[in-house]
Amino acid sequence: MSTERFSRRGFVGASAGVAAVLASGRSAVGANEKVRLAIIGAGSRGNQLLDTFLPRTDIDFVAVADVDDRHAGETAEKIKGSKGNSPVTTRDYRELLDRKDIDAVVIATPDHWHALPAIQAVMAGKDVYVEKPVGHNVAEGRAMINAARKFDKVMAVGTQQRSSENFQKAVETVRSGKLGKVFWIQTWNFENISPVGMVRAADSPTPPYVDYDRWLGAAPKRPFNLNRFHLLFRWFSDYAGGMMSDWGVHLNDVALWALDAKGPQAVTSTGGIVTTDDDRDTPDTLQVVYDFPGCTLTYSMRKGNGLKFNGHDYGILFCGTEGSLMLDRSGHEITPDKVILPYGIKLVKGDQPIRKIDLQPSSFKAKDDGGPAHIADFISCLKTRKRPVADIEIAHRSTNTCHLGNIAYKVGRKLNWDAETETFKNDAEANVLLAREYRLGYELPKI
Ligand SMILES: NC(=O)c1ccc[n+]([C@@H]2O[C@H](COP(=O)([O-])OP(=O)(O)OC[C@H]3O[C@@H](n4cnc5c(N)ncnc54)[C@H](O)[C@@H]3O)[C@@H](O)[C@H]2O)c1
Repeated sequence: MSTERFSRRGFVGASAGVAAVLASGRSAVGANEKVRLAIIGAGSRGNQLLDTFLPRTDIDFVAVADVDDRHAGETAEKIKGSKGNSPVTTRDYRELLDRKDIDAVVIATPDHWHALPAIQAVMAGKDVYVEKPVGHNVAEGRAMINAARKFDKVMAVGTQQRSSENFQKAVETVRSGKLGKVFWIQTWNFENISPVGMVRAADSPTPPYVDYDRWLGAAPKRPFNLNRFHLLFRWFSDYAGGMMSDWGVHLNDVALWALDAKGPQAVTSTGGIVTTDDDRDTPDTLQVVYDFPGCTLTYSMRKGNGLKFNGHDYGILFCGTEGSLMLDRSGHEITPDKVILPYGIKLVKGDQPIRKIDLQPSSFKAKDDGGPAHIADFISCLKTRKRPVADIEIAHRSTNTCHLGNIAYKVGRKLNWDAETETFKNDAEANVLLAREYRLGYELPKI
């Protein structure tokens, strides 16, 4: 009944500006005012984010919402230890949205719980920082953009590499043309967890400290299962999109950024669950090929063999006619290429002039993944009202590449994508997979 209850409280249908000011208590955070935050989803990532937020003197955390009482309690203690105040705790984040002492919410729930709280928060006049991937499906991301724009709120996404000097410099290099024509981009995640993976788990009684129905949210109702719960939810399509969305989004985000593209023209995908024997329903092996004008992007993922590619177990490799750029969170490296005479040419035609490449080798060492600068950008946008570096629309497009990869894997054929309308061309079956069925009471509000 979440959507219904929310609309009866008066936010849906109310004038956006009025609703926003009434709910937040102040229309924008003043330059010297402290930002008052609430966290929704205080699990692993939520606490990583807190480690970056809490040392800042310009913010306070006044509330914690988590459907697991232990997570809410432990996180509230952590905030108290750092800031001295005792934040309000609740299982139901909707209770926080009415509060006038909260300017913005930080959402670090599982993927299937990103869209609804983000949309309800902006409707209640709060700005939002929401974790990647943007939503569970393409339609959710679009609904989040519509809500952010309609209610004129900041909606930043946790694709923190956008704020990293390392990634910024690397993208600048690709865009500058120094690598020549960049026609081939490879992104990858390789590791060996075969065959046990997360092991199998039988359904079990719901722990008394958990509201599992609210954890399930829009996803189909089912008995409690530890393998589908904290952290491991990412391997199930009811809640997330497997490794493709979990990690692939960080990597494809950089490819899209460097290409300055809204999305690919076409996608093909192949793979399966071939090396793990556990409960997952998302692939452990995947090869996704995206067509961009003049450039191919391939995302490769295997969980049955950990041999590093180019010396890295994950990364982004840009290949151009002058050289290559290898990039991950530790830094990036530019390697000039060497032009050769094709086999037999010298024998048939004699010596030929060979193009000399002037590109110089160089490398850059990163200090972090961009996390602290990303949070700083979010806080600054709350005051300046500018769009964040990882604005919802930018991250939505990157997330879409992951949804597309997963949909092409499911239907098993090449799909042609229209990035403007965000639909597949002439493929009704694939278009159905752009959205999901919502369990009653957890539907997205109509914006
Ligand atoms: N940006 C990054 O580098 C990065 C890194 C890790 C995870 N993430 C993202 O963060 C999100 C969370 O991942 P995680 O690894 O922290 O998972 P997790 O299971 O450790 O934490 C999720 C938390 O959300 C809570 N929760 C679930 N439904 C809720 C609801 N309706 N209301 C309030 N709380 C609810 C859970 O009880 C849990 O405490 C995922 O979307 C993931 O992709 C991002």
